[in-house]
This record gives sequence, structure tokens and C-alpha cells, in this order.
Amino acid sequence: TEPPKVRHLMTIGDLSPAELSQLVLNASSHKRAVKSGQTPEAIKNKLLGQTVAMMFSKRSTRTRVSTEAAVALMGGHPMFLGKDDIQLGVNESLYDTSKIISSMTSCMVARVGPHDDVANLAKHSSVPVINALSNDFHPLQTIADFLTIHEAFSQQKLNSTGVVPDRLRVAWVGDANNVLFDLAIGCVKLEKMATFIKEQAATSASPGTLSEYFVPEEAVKDADVIVTDTWVSMGQEEETQKRLKAFSGFRVTDELAKRGGAKPDWKFMHCLPRHPEEVSDEVMYGPRSLVFQEGENRLWAAIAALQGFVIDKGHFA
Ligand code: CP
Ligand code: NVA
Repeated sequence: TEPPKVRHLMTIGDLSPAELSQLVLNASSHKRAVKSGQTPEAIKNKLLGQTVAMMFSKRSTRTRVSTEAAVALMGGHPMFLGKDDIQLGVNESLYDTSKIISSMTSCMVARVGPHDDVANLAKHSSVPVINALSNDFHPLQTIADFLTIHEAFSQQKLNSTGVVPDRLRVAWVGDANNVLFDLAIGCVKLEKMATFIKEQAATSASPGTLSEYFVPEEAVKDADVIVTDTWVSMGQEEETQKRLKAFSGFRVTDELAKRGGAKPDWKFMHCLPRHPEEVSDEVMYGPRSLVFQEGENRLWAAIAALQGFVIDKGHFA
């Protein structure tokens, strides 16, 4: 028999624009409340007595720590299951593993290689499954990234999403990978929703668009934010030499931004872990860099996602 219908977070594509905005705004308000000493009722002890299984087949610093800390903050028990801790992949199928673990827990947070692995886990699970990074998508990172953008641009007039300013230009320089795919989907969603609401209000429209360039200088023109990630994602180690060569000239530096004509006060983001080849120390550790705030925001994103999918059972906007 198939499990009851529950909502899973596989990719930002699973969210409506309103839902993505709501997750980011929830993350933002929980961050402010907890930092001022008040844990909001919406999350306080809401996972008491419940276990969240974290099945990670790859290394992780931020995703592991933020998820464990989020579950603890909500009163629950995070159970970390590394690839050598459970039978999965060696001695047991995904189907059997999903049935068993979901029968004893409230949520599975899974980091996998092929996206189908997390999709199949979700297909057979009776509890929500949250993708903690697959080869194709990284939704928790995108929620944290929009929280970071929201905070950095809060002085500007925000569009009707309440999350980002209108016509924000985000330039990704580097490999087209899992982190980019969800970020790009999110960018289009947040601009599209603003456009839709504006059209209803019969004012001028400014559609969210994606453009691809093959020269990094062209990509960063008028950028408000420049984002990159490693050129060699986990699982691509054999291609390291080929990739380092292919991306030479794509290193994010002050000179690149200047040559390309990025906005004068452009900001830098990187999901981390960082390697020196994709960004200079000057940018990474300089005043434009949002990377450590972005890293911390993984905690608030994890809290918002657990609230949305586990506590509010997918009804959150
Ligand atoms: N950004 C990110 O997901 O980092 P980890 O691989 O350390 O979890
Ligand atoms: N693109 C990187 C992200 C790590 C958080 C990878 O998949 O290894």
C-alpha cells in the first residue's frame, strides 16, 4: 500500500512563490525573536518527543549542524545516520529503509547523490522528506540565501513578495550545479509573483528572467549580488583537473566585478565550503562578503522548513 499523501521538500520548484516568501519571512522573524530571547510559540517545543532522522551519504558541516540545532531548538531529537551507520546502500533497499525509518520518526532529512534517491525515499515515506542536497537541488540553501538577500537589501523598497527588491540582479559565476538550480528557480519565482501582483494592480510589469552568458564579465554587469560555489562538487572529484582548467578566468575578484561593471556596492555570496580558486581572499573575507551571515542563516532556514513541512504539514502560505 502507498503511504498517505504528505508534502515533501525536494526542490524550490515544489513551492509556490507565496510559500517560498513565507518560509523566508518565517525564518527572518524566528531569527529576530530567538536572538532577542523569545522562542516563538509557532516553534517552541513543537517537536517535543519527536525524532528527525538525518540520512547523509555525503559529508556536511552546515546542513548537519543547522538541522541538528534546529531540531534541538524545537524540542525534538535529531538522529544522525551517516552512510556507515545504517544498512541502506549496502545491505538494504531504499524502499525498505524508507518504510522503516518513516514508521518511527516525524521527518527524514536526506543528503544523497542522484536526485532520484531522495525522490524515492519521499515516494515511500509516510512522513515529510526534506532534501538536504542532491546532485540536482539544494532547497535549504536557497531559503537561507533569500533570507541573506532580504537582510542585506532591507533598506531598499521591497517588491510585493516582501522578500527582495524589484529587479534585483543576481549573477552566478561558475559551475551550473545543484545550488544554482534552486537559487535560479527561486529568483524567477519571487520576481514572477511580484509581476503577477503588479499586473493585477495594472501597473508596469518587470518579469523575472534568467540569462546565460559564457563570459563572466558579461554576467556580472549591473549585478547587485555575485554568487559562486565550488567548481568541483562532491562526486566530481575525478574531473578536478579538467574543471579547474575549464573555469580558469571565472574566479570572483574585485577586478572581475569592476571590469564587468557590477553595481558599486555589490555583495558576495557562497554556500561554502569555499576553495581559493573560485573567489579571492579579498572578496571572500572583505566587506562585500555575506558568507558567514549566509552560513548562519542555514539554521533559520532549517527551522522554517521543519515548521512548514513537519509542524504545519505543508500548509504554510
Ligand atoms: N552549504 C552547505 O550545504 O554546506 P555543507 O556541505 O557543509 O552542509
Ligand atoms: N555544489 C556543492 C555544494 C555543497 C554544499 C556540492 O554539491 O558538493
